[in-house]
Amino acid sequence: MGSTAVEFKNPATTTLLELVKSRRTYYGLKAESPISDDAIERIVEDSVLHVPSSFNTQTSRVVLLLKEEHKKVWDIAISAMENLVAAGVLTQEAYEASTKPKLNAFRAAYGTVLFFVDYESLATIKEQFAIYADKFDPFALESNAMSQYLVWLALESEGFGANLQHYSPLIDAEITKTWGLPASWKLDAQLVFGTPTSEAGEKTFQPLETRLKVFGK
Ligand SMILES: Cc1cc2nc3c(=O)[nH]c(=O)nc-3n(C[C@H](O)[C@H](O)[C@H](O)COP(=O)(O)O)c2cc1C
Repeated sequence: MGSTAVEFKNPATTTLLELVKSRRTYYGLKAESPISDDAIERIVEDSVLHVPSSFNTQTSRVVLLLKEEHKKVWDIAISAMENLVAAGVLTQEAYEASTKPKLNAFRAAYGTVLFFVDYESLATIKEQFAIYADKFDPFALESNAMSQYLVWLALESEGFGANLQHYSPLIDAEITKTWGLPASWKLDAQLVFGTPTSEAGEKTFQPLETRLKVFGK
């Protein structure tokens, strides 16, 4: 798959693609960091500043939580899930056997990056470019996903493992309250990261030729 030997002009391209190939989902994580907190912050900062957004609308909002602050996210999720059990939406058995161990595994990691989109900030541009009005929200989410991917890639490049979670809307209100965030920040994803304690799982690939066509080579 993509195995033809090619030469790139810039060795950084090879490095970048190697990083892309080695990024995986890691669920077994511990609360240790291979790099300084400032280095982690720099990765997140660069993603906020330099990941593109449609019309340069800069709609992504990000919260970096480390150590004790990170644990709070997963305490919030645990308590939200326990409420579902109490309400009869989730069985106690399913919670104990699957949900709780999973949430505790996230809690055992080093940090969580919360990714939000501020859709309300798009009000003016939607009026200015009415023809694109219905495109701005999906564009904002796409831009947010680019930030998620960049941070995931960069953290793993530095020796972390990470996994991407989606516990909205269950945890939203408590997240907003706990960190005093603006109400307009709509949570999309939670990237959990820490030092890996286990390998990534097996991954299979659909044949490239069913997913990629090239013309004019
Ligand atoms: C948009 C998106 C949403 C995802 N949501 C979740 C999620 O909610 N929980 C989870 O455990 N993994 C989630 N994943 C991880 C995927 O399951 C994983 O990336 C995929 O199986 C490929 O495995 P890999 O990351 O090891 O390459 C998500 C990935 C993407 C790109």
